[in-house]
Order: sequence, then structure tokens, then C-alpha cells
Amino acid sequence: MNIHLMAAIKPSTNTLMYTKLWICIVYILQLVLIAISAALPLENFHMIRGVAPRLISNIDEWHRRPSGYDPCLSDYTEIYMNRPDVQKALHANITRIPYPWTHCSNNITFWSDAPSSILPIISKLIAGGLRIWVYSGDTDGRIPVTATRLSLKKLGLKINQDWSPWYTDKKQVGGWTVEYEGLMFVTVRGAGHQVPSFKPRQALQLLVHFLANKKLPSAPF
Ligand SMILES: *[C@@H]1O[C@H](CO)[C@@H](O)[C@H](O)[C@H]1NC(C)=O
Ligand SMILES: *[C@@H]1O[C@H](CO)[C@@H](O)[C@H](O)[C@H]1NC(C)=O
Repeated sequence: MNIHLMAAIKPSTNTLMYTKLWICIVYILQLVLIAISAALPLENFHMIRGVAPRLISNIDEWHRRPSGYDPCLSDYTEIYMNRPDVQKALHANITRIPYPWTHCSNNITFWSDAPSSILPIISKLIAGGLRIWVYSGDTDGRIPVTATRLSLKKLGLKINQDWSPWYTDKKQVGGWTVEYEGLMFVTVRGAGHQVPSFKPRQALQLLVHFLANKKLPSAPF
């Protein structure tokens, strides 16, 4: 038994060392690129930022790190959203805005369609008979589960089933649910603010169950 275990562990230790070596190399490369981009005039900065993510994404192991989180994700989306073919497919930027797409912008100053709370909208949608799920990553430090629970409580909905775990196909707790009358609250265990970036498997399971109008599995299967 022990011999079998040893034999099984040996090659994976090598793989692990390889992965660590790659991660070190990538980190050093990243630091070099950051140093270069800091030294260059600002107009060259986008060029460097465009190169670095592709360099990293070509390395397989980078995405297989235990955390599963790729810190360059927002760089990829920025490049992607600025591609003319993508903009065309999305019917976006038809007015040919003279500057590139960015994640955040304060340029739109006439915005008046952002109510301070969406709870009245949720109530309206429930009354309209729509199926509503609210989900939250339970390691999200920006919009924490506790705050969302407090907000949902203010809707005053009857609880059909209180805080209980749901399971993934790996026999793991995927998160917890609270089933309200007219609304399902789902947490995703170990996910941060962008749930699918941190926990793609759980996020897909959540979406599939929502679309199929099925409850998440309440027991390991
Ligand atoms: C809009 O399109 C123009 C021309 O294709 C491009 O230069 C610009 O960066 C784009 N802006 C946004 C906000 O997508
Ligand atoms: C805001 O607009 C200016 C020019 O009108 C442009 O140079 C800048 O990139 C824009 N900022 C963002 C974040 O889109």
C-alpha cells in the first residue's frame, strides 16, 4: 500500500516542481515587463500590457494554480472588447467613440438610471412572476454575502428553506442556499467578486440549474 502511494506521488512531485519553476519564471517576466512599461512613455504602456497577458496565457500551468485565479483577466477582456470584430458582433460602438473601451469610466456624466437600491425592482419582478436567483461569492470582500443577506431580508419574503448546503458533482459543498418565497439566494463557496472567474465549475452548475428551473443538489451525489 505504502509503496504504491510512493510510486504515485513521485512523478506528481516533479510536476509540482516544474509548475513552481514556471510560475517563478512568469513572475520574474512580469516584473521585468512592469519595470519596462514603467520606464517607457505612457503611449507605449498599452503595447506592453497587450503583450504580457498573452505571454502568460500561453503557459498552461499558469491557469492550473490552486487558486484558479488569473490576475491578468481584466487585461484580456480589455483587449478583447477593443477588437473591431468583437465590437461588430456585439453591435457596439457604432458611433465610433474616439477613445478605447475600458472597464471603468467616469466619462458618462448624464447617467440617471442608477437607483440607490434595486430592492424595489426585485419586488416588482417577483410580483411579475419572474424566476429570480441572487448569487454571491462567499469570499467577496467588496459585496459580501452578509450584506446581501441583510438586504434580501428587507424584502420581507417568507423563507421556505433556510441556509442549507448545495453540492457539486465532485461531492463538495458548492455553497449554501436560502429559498425565499419567489426568490432563491445562492452562495458560491470560495468565490470572490467575479464568481465565474474564481469558481467556473460551480458557476456553470448554478447557471444550468437556474435555466433548467431545478434546485441545486441538496445532498452529495
Ligand atoms: C470605437 O471604435 C473606434 C474605431 O474603430 C476605435 O478607435 C475606438 O477605440 C472604439 N471605442 C470604444 C469605446 O470602443
Ligand atoms: C474619457 O474621455 C477622454 C476624451 O474625451 C478620453 O481621452 C479618455 O480615454 C476617456 N476615459 C475613459 C476611461 O474612457
